Amino acid sequence: MEVKKIMVIGAGQMGSGIAQVAAVAGIQVVLNDIKDEFVSRGLGIIEKNLSRDVSKGRIDEVKKDSILKLITPSTSLQDAGDVDLVVEAAIENMEIKGRIFKDLDNICPEHAILATNTSSLPITEIAAVTKRPGKVIGMHFMNPVPVMKLVEIIRGLATNDETYNTVKELSEQMSKVPVEVNDAPGFVSNRVLIPMINEAIYCVYEGIATPEAVDQVMKLGMNHPMGPLALADLIGLDTCLYIMEVLYEGFGDSKYRPCPLLRKYVAAGWYGRKSGRGFYVY
Ligand code: CAA
Repeated sequence: MEVKKIMVIGAGQMGSGIAQVAAVAGIQVVLNDIKDEFVSRGLGIIEKNLSRDVSKGRIDEVKKDSILKLITPSTSLQDAGDVDLVVEAAIENMEIKGRIFKDLDNICPEHAILATNTSSLPITEIAAVTKRPGKVIGMHFMNPVPVMKLVEIIRGLATNDETYNTVKELSEQMSKVPVEVNDAPGFVSNRVLIPMINEAIYCVYEGIATPEAVDQVMKLGMNHPMGPLALADLIGLDTCLYIMEVLYEGFGDSKYRPCPLLRKYVAAGWYGRKSGRGFYVY
């Protein structure tokens, strides 16, 4: 199936990045969020990123304008009535996602694929609220979306091959590299990454090293582009905690216990970059 028009739900860090790479690939995008100001903020991020591409000579002003013209703002899910695919990048809450997918199932055309950018919620459970579980799939982009090459494609129990192949081709059209995985807590990316971050937090909690020292070890010793604590601040400490809880509950294994210091920071509202303070001050 050719995907000509998509809706992206959620105009935050991830949603705006997804809308940007889709528009750059020539796809019409409806960028949806619950408030006008959220959509405007998302469009502002895209505008800024494209302006940087202009200043670096990668695209010209005409191209920038043509990309921006492909993006239509929206605050109503009813605008998904003529799309071929939806990428949902809203808040990580099963109840909210369940409601969104139920509504989309009623609003979207029969052929439309419903994808979620969830970083840890079960695709199979999200699919089960719809009458089209074969057309529900995980399309997990990495932060920052315009830079990171990976799209982790997660097949739910009922996801069919046509849906998978369409999403794979769409990811390639967006200049990303798709990797197929099956539905399991944390998928592959966050099952490996977030426990490493949690362990780095334990090193600080137990007084083994400062955040700066932990990050230096991983940057200089393992060639990671940024240390795990700086990365945790980028992802959001609330998101890191949420994913640890999903792993802990999903596997019932104490090796996934969230570090008490992570809980404490989140309880304090220290979410990382987005709140101005996490392991570092911004
Ligand atoms: N949006 C768009 N572009 C961005 C960006 C953003 N938010 N942040 C950085 N960039 C661009 C910069 O503009 C720059 O582009 P040019 O080279 O064209 O100028 C390029 O990325 C490199 O940026 P910087 O020179 O500023 O800094 P850097 O070289 O240290 O790279 C980084 C920054 C790309 C973020 C790099 O540190 C990195 O790869 N970090 C690891 C990121 C990572 O692991 N992401 C996955 C998180 S996990 C996740 O997302 C899954 C989940 O479910 C939790």
